[in-house]
Amino acid sequence: MQQTVPETMSTLILNRHDTDLRQAIRGLSRGQRPVPRPRHGQVLVRIEAAPCNPSDLLFLQGLYGVDKTLPAVPGWEGAGTVVAAGGGWLARRLVGKRVACGGQTDTDGTWAEYYLAEARACVPLQRGIDLEQGASLIINPLTALGLFDLARKARVPAVLQTAGASQVGRMLVRLAADAGLPLLSIVRRDEQVELLRSMGAEHLLNSESERFEEQLRRICAELRITMAFEAVAGEMTGRLFNAMPAGARVVVYGALSESPCAAIDPIGLIFRGKRVEGFYLGDWIREQGLLGALRASSKVQKLIRSGAFSTAIQRRVGLEDAVEGLLQYHEHMTDGKVLILPGKKPGTPAG
Ligand SMILES: NC(=O)c1ccc[n+]([C@@H]2O[C@H](COP(=O)([O-])OP(=O)(O)OC[C@H]3O[C@@H](n4cnc5c(N)ncnc54)[C@H](OP(=O)(O)O)[C@@H]3O)[C@@H](O)[C@H]2O)c1
Repeated sequence: MQQTVPETMSTLILNRHDTDLRQAIRGLSRGQRPVPRPRHGQVLVRIEAAPCNPSDLLFLQGLYGVDKTLPAVPGWEGAGTVVAAGGGWLARRLVGKRVACGGQTDTDGTWAEYYLAEARACVPLQRGIDLEQGASLIINPLTALGLFDLARKARVPAVLQTAGASQVGRMLVRLAADAGLPLLSIVRRDEQVELLRSMGAEHLLNSESERFEEQLRRICAELRITMAFEAVAGEMTGRLFNAMPAGARVVVYGALSESPCAAIDPIGLIFRGKRVEGFYLGDWIREQGLLGALRASSKVQKLIRSGAFSTAIQRRVGLEDAVEGLLQYHEHMTDGKVLILPGKKPGTPAG
């Protein structure tokens, strides 16, 4: 049953990109927009929670690989309840259901009271998965599965990852432990070493330690690490590439340093059969086809229900205090996601 929806909604709006992230965040404004009307194959989702991910920050800066025509509502994913459908069997079936939703197109995003979603891109949430975990159900968990799938298909003896204390990194720690695949996690602070150790990670390195490169080379040789999941970029890509053995693949899937991949030894590329390549979740989902994507999202839900995957949440904010919350996330990323709850009323506890 379709529910009554208002004519207008509150949103966050990005008016212009700014490579200075703090300025970009401060430049976000509150706005009113008409609630979009779903067309055939689309649904309208009342957003209950939407996270901020590193890809949202890059978008605010104008540095991401997908852009929107400005002014635009940011937010690549979220979760909520489907309140209207524009027609089509699948869309109609979703009405009244709780879904995870999102998409990377030039349309308004999830940092708003309502979001227009393609019905086929919605993931109905299973019982036992709340809307806050549902809000981060698509981007990070599926990326962890996608990266792990690369390692599995290549039958590598061991892998390494950078930004190991990220949410994706923690999920990779869990997948590797469950599969018995040795995983070296690289982080940049001792607290992150301790955090991952407490989660059962066995092989850990702090990239700020004095003998980092020497230790990296030794562990890569000992464990026979031939694949790297690289989220930092900049000089880090070259440091990994140069330390890894012949035939190694460095899979760059993030740009946390906001710098070009650097210091890659050309001799490794020419004579040692080493490769640097990219990973983008959107491509991976397309490659899986509809059935494969459904299987992957149901696997993610199973992992969340069992407690194997869990997204840490450090704070919940409404649209009014979103700027403050996003600044906090930027400064304390390891502490977890900041969730934007568009329905949260001003003055209620920060959560
Ligand atoms: N390619 C794709 O399709 C795809 C999809 C999903 C995610 N990703 C990428 O996956 C990565 C992790 O995302 P997430 O949401 O899991 O992250 P997150 O939970 O927000 O955590 C980010 C982590 O990265 C660390 N970090 C930030 N800047 C860093 C730097 N310059 N050098 C080293 N470490 C740094 C943070 O540590 P501090 O607390 O010390 O800052 C934090 O532990 C991101 O790069 C994201 O863009 C890519």
